[in-house]
Amino acid sequence: MKANSWTKYSGFAVIGVSIVTLLVSNAIQAKRPFTDAEAEDQQNMLLAVVAKGDALWHDPVLGTNGLACANCHPDGAATNPHTWPKFQTNLGKVGTLRDMINWCIQIPLEGQTIALDSDEMTALEAYATFTHRGVAISPGKDEQHGAVPVASGPGYPKPTR
Ligand code: HEC
Repeated sequence: MKANSWTKYSGFAVIGVSIVTLLVSNAIQAKRPFTDAEAEDQQNMLLAVVAKGDALWHDPVLGTNGLACANCHPDGAATNPHTWPKFQTNLGKVGTLRDMINWCIQIPLEGQTIALDSDEMTALEAYATFTHRGVAISPGKDEQHGAVPVASGPGYPKPTR
């Protein structure tokens, strides 16, 4: 190799070594496992958000007609968090669990939609998902092929005011 070709390629060598150093140092930082105390703290933070969702689920505050999610979805029933995203006929598109939560706030609860990234939305999603823990994720799964989980007509929860 001629002297001038080393000069030509040394810049690439420096960049290459820098990238490798960066990757290795990041890998070391990312690999530290959580301590038991950290893992417990994180789990407790999740459970606090689930508890907030549980309270909201049973509170008519999101709507204007006295209904709460729990009237039609006791224990998170028929929310099918494991099936999203999927095509939902009420949405008329492939939407997310959060889109459907807002649909229910707007239509059955006759309320105002909430921000998709709000703490309330996270709490409702956490409650619906936590009540279905262990269920296999199946985007698009048809959970209404047999009985329709939320029915209208006799027995359908009526607004209380
Ligand atoms: C008055 C009854 C009623 C109330 C109250 C209600 N929903 Fe619903 N919910 C429905 C109906 C009806 C559907 C649509 C079912 C369908 O498309 O076949 C539905 C569907 C859903 C779905 C989607 C289920 C699926 O797999 O398509 C989610 C998620 C959901 N509701 C969440 C909520 C949340 C969260 C609340 C409270 C903010 C709420 N619902 C309040 C009646 C209600």
